[in-house]
Amino acid sequence: MAAKTVRFAVANDLHAQFVPSVTMHTGYPGANARAEWLLSQVEYGGALAGVDFIMGAGDFIHGENLASIGAEMAALKERLAKLPVPFHPCCGNHEVRQQEGDAAWESPYVRAFGADKFDYAIPAGAAEIIVLNNAGTFHVGAARREARLENFRRLLRARPGVPKILVCHIPFLPVRDNAVLRESFGFLSYKALEVELLDTLEVDGGDVRLIISGHLHLTGAVAVGGVRQLVTSGTASFPHDYPVVTVTPDAITVEVRSLPEEMHEPRTNLHGPPRYKKDYTDVAHPTGDAYLRGNADERAFTIPL
Ligand SMILES: [Fe+2]
Ligand SMILES: [Fe+2]
Repeated sequence: MAAKTVRFAVANDLHAQFVPSVTMHTGYPGANARAEWLLSQVEYGGALAGVDFIMGAGDFIHGENLASIGAEMAALKERLAKLPVPFHPCCGNHEVRQQEGDAAWESPYVRAFGADKFDYAIPAGAAEIIVLNNAGTFHVGAARREARLENFRRLLRARPGVPKILVCHIPFLPVRDNAVLRESFGFLSYKALEVELLDTLEVDGGDVRLIISGHLHLTGAVAVGGVRQLVTSGTASFPHDYPVVTVTPDAITVEVRSLPEEMHEPRTNLHGPPRYKKDYTDVAHPTGDAYLRGNADERAFTIPL
């Protein structure tokens, strides 16, 4: 029997602060309204009505300290409980302030989603989604690196031959010129830095066709070997993009959409003014706009299965 078609939207980098806290950090202007817009679209008549689930790709909240992370995660949990479809989370650095693997920092995430929702797999029609927690890249020690690698290997080897979509907050592959991206993002976590992850993808990742990530607050896609890396800006930062992914028995199709223009807030751009005096560009993206949004073939593509 052919697998049924599965469609899902990805929610990443919402940076929602659905409840104020005494330690609340200044977040992204308008982020709550844009996060709420995306979540509300799965309702009847919405732009995402009919999706089977929402896949999270990290940075659902803004956080920055334990008290605010606790308050914001609890409020997020309350909002997600009202969704008419399942929400599958993936841990981002803002859920744990880069403290990947630290029980105290991870406890709000565990309370919201469960301890088994850091590294796990779910079926997605003809494919499966594997979720990997790499939220603390660059900040992780040896023990965490080994534990993370073990989780990754286990997920990659569990169902050989089943095409895989890997979801992890920090992208494995740079979707812009590596040196330019490092500079424009301005944090060392512009890609997953622990080399054993890419090595393992090469050795055990033959079933991985697509990697879905966030974190960079820009949109782009790059193909390396048989793997496509997709990053979308998410809702907090301009240009406020989110992807819709359809898995049929024959193909994975990705379509990147933008939030309604009246909700756009150009001040939230991480890769240009007002954070920097200039727009960033690279060889394949000669304007600031192309650098932020990606070219047409990065925003819509099909991967045959
Ligand atoms: Fe983010
Ligand atoms: Fe992030």
